[in-house]
This record gives sequence, structure tokens and C-alpha cells, in this order.
Amino acid sequence: MLWRNTPTGFGLITRLLHWTMAALILAQIPLGLKIATMQLGLANLWLFGLHKTIGFVALILVLTRLVWHRISPPPPPLGDADSLPNRAARAVHALIYACLVIIPISGWVASAATGLDVVIFNQITLPAIAPVSAAWENTGFFIHNSATKLLMALLVAHIAGAALRAFKGDGTLQRMIKG
Ligand code: HEM
Ligand code: HEM
Repeated sequence: MLWRNTPTGFGLITRLLHWTMAALILAQIPLGLKIATMQLGLANLWLFGLHKTIGFVALILVLTRLVWHRISPPPPPLGDADSLPNRAARAVHALIYACLVIIPISGWVASAATGLDVVIFNQITLPAIAPVSAAWENTGFFIHNSATKLLMALLVAHIAGAALRAFKGDGTLQRMIKG
């Protein structure tokens, strides 16, 4: 079926999830770097809210994608699955998924630990998943910041790999765009 993955191609749902998440994360990283230089105040509160909203949506999307890939497994890579580039690509994908779970949860923990309400979409208050504590706040932000550095490195490798394969014309990028 068009929306499911097949043994040779990505279905519509995986492609929509991939490109929506790619757009969100590529916007979210510079936004995070920007707010990290700011002193929280009334004038920039909305930027922090926007970052938390995008981050929460990204968490829902990555969890949806992990569940979806249990229901409808993605196709194996093109070419020899055991070749070094394909094994490296698989390892990078797994680490990207791990980062995309750890980063929003640690951001949420750290934000809750500040004692301020974690508000998304300007109106929904998320449950406080951590006690108000400087230790939780510092550890949460340490994990959040370190994992975002790792994610940036992984994405450079991922996008460079995709570009290289597109340049060689092996069809990998094509099947993530057109299925
Ligand atoms: C312009 C940017 C990007 C391009 C050109 C691109 C391209 C691709 C391509 C071609 C694949 C399919 C690989 C295969 O056939 O095995 C893929 C898979 C994947 N991409 Fe991207 N990507 C981009 C951005 C991102 C971003 C920002 C993320 C993270 C949010 C991401 C996460 C992933 C993951 C996790 C997979 C593995 C999917 C699976 O589970 O099979 N990509 N990407
Ligand atoms: C996949 C989702 C997310 C990504 C990629 C991301 C990325 C980032 C990045 C790159 C930074 C700058 C780190 C630095 O170098 O100092 C940052 C900071 C921050 N993030 Fe996120 N974030 C995500 C989700 C969240 C969520 C869900 C929350 C809270 C609910 C959050 C709260 C914050 C806060 C408050 C800061 C500022 C930290 C400071 O003042 O040092 N983030 N984020």
C-alpha cells in the first residue's frame, strides 16, 4: 500500500515523518542555540515557548516513527547491507533516534526543575516531570546540551552521506523523496 513501507521502498507515512522531523529539527537547533544566549524575560518568553513546543512535537513524532517502524518495517538499505557505509549509516540512524528521545526529555526535565511551568502551544502546561532542584536543572541541561552537540555531528554525517549517495545516483535519496 502507498502509505506503508514495502521491502524496497519508503511509504508515505515514513517519508512524511522523515521530512517533517527534518524541517523541525533543522529549525530547532539554531533556535536552541539562540535562546541559550538569552536571559529569560517577558520579551523573549515566547521564543522559549516556541522551542519547547517544537521539541515536544518532535518527541511525539519520533515516538510515532519508532512505533510505525515496528508495524511497517523500513526497507533495508540499497546495495550490500553489510558494507561499511551501510553499517555506518544504520549506526548513525540509531544514534539519531536515541538523541531525538534523550534531547526533548532532558530539556523537559531541566525546564521543569527550574520551577517554571513548561507551557507549549501558549496554553498547554506539561506535567512537571522533575522536582524543583538546581541539581536536576544542571544535569538536565548538561545532557540536553551534550546530546545536541552529538546530534549536530550525526546530522552533518547523515546529510553528507545522503548528498554523496545522491551524487553517485544510487537512488537512496530518491526513495526517501518519492518512495
Ligand atoms: C536535508 C537533510 C536530509 C536529507 C537529504 C536526508 C536524507 C535521508 C535519506 C535519503 C534517508 C534514507 C536512507 C536509506 O535509504 O536507508 C534518510 C533516513 C533517515 N533520516 Fe534523513 N535526511 C535529512 C535530514 C534528516 C534529519 C534532520 C534527521 C533527524 C531528525 C534525519 C533522520 C533520519 C533517520 C533517523 C533515517 C532512518 C530512517 C529509518 O529508520 O530507516 N534526517 N535520510
Ligand atoms: C528534539 C528536540 C530539541 C532539540 C533538537 C533542542 C536543541 C537545543 C539546543 C541546540 C540548545 C542550545 C544548547 C546549548 O548549546 O546551550 C537548546 C537549549 C534549550 N532547550 Fe532545547 N531542544 C529540543 C527540545 C527541547 C524541549 C522539549 C525543551 C523543554 C521542554 C527544551 C528546552 C530548552 C531550553 C530551556 C534551552 C536553553 C538552555 C539554556 O539556557 O542553556 N528543548 N535546545
